[in-house]
Amino acid sequence: MQPSQESLHFQPHFISHDSLYKSTKNGLIVRELKESTKKKNMDLLSHVLLFLFLFLFTIPAKSADPLSEYCNTNTIISRNQTSANIDRLLSQLVSGTILNGYIATSYGKAKDKVYGLAQCRADVGRKDCSTCIKDAAKEILKRCPNQADARIWYDFCFLRYDIKNFFGEVDTSFGIFYLNVENVTNPKTFNKELGTLMDRISSKAVVAGNKGNGRDKTKLTPFLTVYALVQCTRDLSPLFCSQCLAIATENFQTICKNRKGCRALYSNCYVRYELYPFYFPLDSDSANASKAHHVSVVFKPQVS
Ligand SMILES: *[C@@H]1O[C@H](CO)[C@@H](O)[C@H](O)[C@H]1NC(C)=O
Ligand SMILES: *[C@@H]1O[C@H](CO)[C@@H](O)[C@H](O)[C@H]1NC(C)=O
Ligand SMILES: *[C@@H]1O[C@H](CO)[C@@H](O)[C@H](O)[C@H]1NC(C)=O
Repeated sequence: MQPSQESLHFQPHFISHDSLYKSTKNGLIVRELKESTKKKNMDLLSHVLLFLFLFLFTIPAKSADPLSEYCNTNTIISRNQTSANIDRLLSQLVSGTILNGYIATSYGKAKDKVYGLAQCRADVGRKDCSTCIKDAAKEILKRCPNQADARIWYDFCFLRYDIKNFFGEVDTSFGIFYLNVENVTNPKTFNKELGTLMDRISSKAVVAGNKGNGRDKTKLTPFLTVYALVQCTRDLSPLFCSQCLAIATENFQTICKNRKGCRALYSNCYVRYELYPFYFPLDSDSANASKAHHVSVVFKPQVS
C-alpha cells in the first residue's frame, strides 16, 4: 500500500517562526533549522560559560524556542477560572515531570476543569528534562495565551493541556515534520535498513517498562550509522502507541523519502532518525557528527 498525501486528511501548511532561517519555495514559507555540530558546541562552551558568568545575575533567563506549538483557535478561553486553573495545572505538570519524567493530571471542577499531560523523552536526563519542561510551561502561555487546547513540542519534552479529557486517545490531525534538505546516496539499502530499524524500536516502545521509548542504531557501512528513536506519550495503550508510530513512520516514506534525517512530531508520538547520534546516552563514536540542515513541514487539520 502506497501512502499518499491525500490519505493524510490534512493540508500541508508551512509556517514561519522568528529566530530561524526562512526561505520561500513555491509561494510557501519553509522553515529551516540549522544545527551546529556537537564539536562546534563544545568549542563555544567556554564562551557561553563566560557569558553566563558575567550576565547571569543581570539578565533574566530566556526560555528556549520550541520546535513547534499548536494553539487550537476553536477553543478560546471564555472564563477567568479556566485561565487560573491552567496556571495551577502548569505548575503541577512541571513538578510532576521533574519528579517522574511524565505526568497526566487535571485541575479544577466542572466546566473549569482542565486536563494536562507533560513528559520528557525517556532517554533524556533529569537536568535537561527539568530545563525543557520549565521552558515549555513558560512558552506555551506566551504562544497560546487565549487557547484552552494548547500543545508545545521540544526535542526533549512535550506539554499539552485542554478543557476536554484527551488521555489515552490518538490524535494525529496535527503533525510537524522536520526533514534534512540532503538526501541519502544509496536509498535502496538505506530504506530497507531504516524500515527494519523502525520496526525494531517500535516494538521496544510498547514493551512494559520502556516508558513508550524505543531507540537503536544500525551500521550501514563502516563509516555510516543511522540512529533512530521513537517515543509515545505514556498515557497510550500499547495498541494506540503502535498506531501513532505506524502513522508517523508511514509518512516518512512520503514526506521524508530518502532524506538523511527526519523528525515527526505528533501529539502522541515523536519519531526521529539521523545519520548522527542524537539520543542518550550519546554514541561515543560521534566525533564526526555531520552538520544537519533541516526544513520543516507543518500539517494542520483541514477546517471544514
Ligand atoms: C475576568 O478577567 C477580566 C479581565 O482581566 C476582569 O476584568 C474581570 O474582572 C474578571 N472577572 C472575574 C469574575 O474575576
Ligand atoms: C532531495 O530530494 C528531493 C526530492 O527528490 C529534492 O526535492 C531535493 O532537492 C533533494 N535535495 C538535495 C539537496 O539535492
Ligand atoms: C572525520 O572527519 C575528518 C575530517 O573531515 C575526515 O578526514 C575523516 O575521514 C572522518 N572520519 C570518518 C570516520 O568519517
